[in-house]
Amino acid sequence: MITAYDALFARLFQESADILLVGDSLNMSFGGNPDTLSATMDQMIYHTHAVCKGAPDTFVICDMPFGTYIDEKTALHNALRVYQETRADAVKIEGGANKAHLVKYLVDNGIAVCGHIGLLPQSVRAEGGYKVKGKSEEEALSLIADAQAIEKAGAFIIVIEGVKADVAARVAQSISVPLIGIGAGNGVDGQVLVFSDMLGLYEPFVPKFVKQYMKGASVVKEAVASYANEVQSRAFPDENYVY
Ligand code: KIV
Repeated sequence: MITAYDALFARLFQESADILLVGDSLNMSFGGNPDTLSATMDQMIYHTHAVCKGAPDTFVICDMPFGTYIDEKTALHNALRVYQETRADAVKIEGGANKAHLVKYLVDNGIAVCGHIGLLPQSVRAEGGYKVKGKSEEEALSLIADAQAIEKAGAFIIVIEGVKADVAARVAQSISVPLIGIGAGNGVDGQVLVFSDMLGLYEPFVPKFVKQYMKGASVVKEAVASYANEVQSRAFPDENYVY
């Protein structure tokens, strides 16, 4: 699984990715905001629509932004918008046992739901920062209970973020739906990364768990600097690029 926010990148990722996640992380990398909390349903629908157009045959999950699944009716109203206004296959909501009733309500009403447990970016202000989970046996047991509760509620897949690797592996063993890790080691069933992180495009902060598969920011900056230099020197456009 990899995030995608537009048709351009979705088209590039579709060959290799099983699932594209239109994460509300787009509010940071693309929106320029310090966290995900100000993302709106309209924005998620715009980006999800674009991703589905770029990768029409790939399974697409739309992240429900903060405040859009505050209760059952609000959650269903917004999830229905995702299905009515995009071709996404599923929605994702953050939270464990305390959100199981919402997962069940959505699933009972025909929505496919991806869970998200562990470090919850939408709780960053409530928790006073991004805190790795699973550091005590009590937290480990609570994560297992979270995963089991939302699996029982009907989630078909669960993302686990920012959790000690050994604990994430135990969580994976405790459920039968796929557990997809981000910053949770390789004892889980699959991985997800934010594409702008793994391509090295997002410079403000690189989490410890992110492997940069290219130095995208340097590549882009060098290309744009070359363009600017050639425009200034009139080397571009030369005879190859004129009508
Ligand atoms: O918003 C997002 O990109 C996510 C991933 C970090 C899983 O939820």
